Amino acid sequence: MFDTMTMTKVLGALCGSLLVFLLGGWAADLIYHGGGGHGDDHQQAYVIEVEGGDEEPEEEVEEVDFAAVMAEADAGAGEKVFSKCKACHKLEDGGKGTGPHLWSIVGRDIAAVGDFGYSNVLAEKEGDWTPEHLQEFLADPKGWAPGTKMSFAGLKKIEDRANLIAYLETIGG
Ligand code: HEC
Repeated sequence: MFDTMTMTKVLGALCGSLLVFLLGGWAADLIYHGGGGHGDDHQQAYVIEVEGGDEEPEEEVEEVDFAAVMAEADAGAGEKVFSKCKACHKLEDGGKGTGPHLWSIVGRDIAAVGDFGYSNVLAEKEGDWTPEHLQEFLADPKGWAPGTKMSFAGLKKIEDRANLIAYLETIGG
């Protein structure tokens, strides 16, 4: 009687290990070891491996390709974003405001409005207002041009910047 019980246990344990081994760790197994008749020797061994599931945490890509967002940009939505700039910027050629007019700003030389008193940081920047330069400046004016006179916190959303630039592209030649 005792021997049979031991054998059952050993066999059970062996089968269990074999199963777990065979199933390669993904299955949940329930292994019973035979009890001794009185119930107090009853033992259950569960082998349960829980998989993490299919949902891989989606990593937020920090470096979003601006050109890709720009390709999807909506000038109509950008016109609404421009309401944040209106107080300081005119769109007409030669229009005067707190800031320089933004007629034909996309592709225009940086700090090119002759009678506007630019800050040194903008006056000394080389190059044109490419969409890339514009989006960097508009994301964080004081970060891109430390000392700028433009008191504007920045447009945090890349979509807002792309839409706005798409709208500005329609202004001027
Ligand atoms: C509170 C007023 C104010 C607001 C709001 C503002 N700007 Fe400006 N902006 C300025 C001033 C002032 C300058 C000149 C900065 C300098 O010389 O450093 C400027 C400069 C610029 C320039 C550089 C122009 C050039 O000729 O080189 C661009 C482009 C520009 N702003 C775009 C925008 C856009 C787009 C918005 C809205 C998202 C905006 N600004 C909001 C005041 C403002």
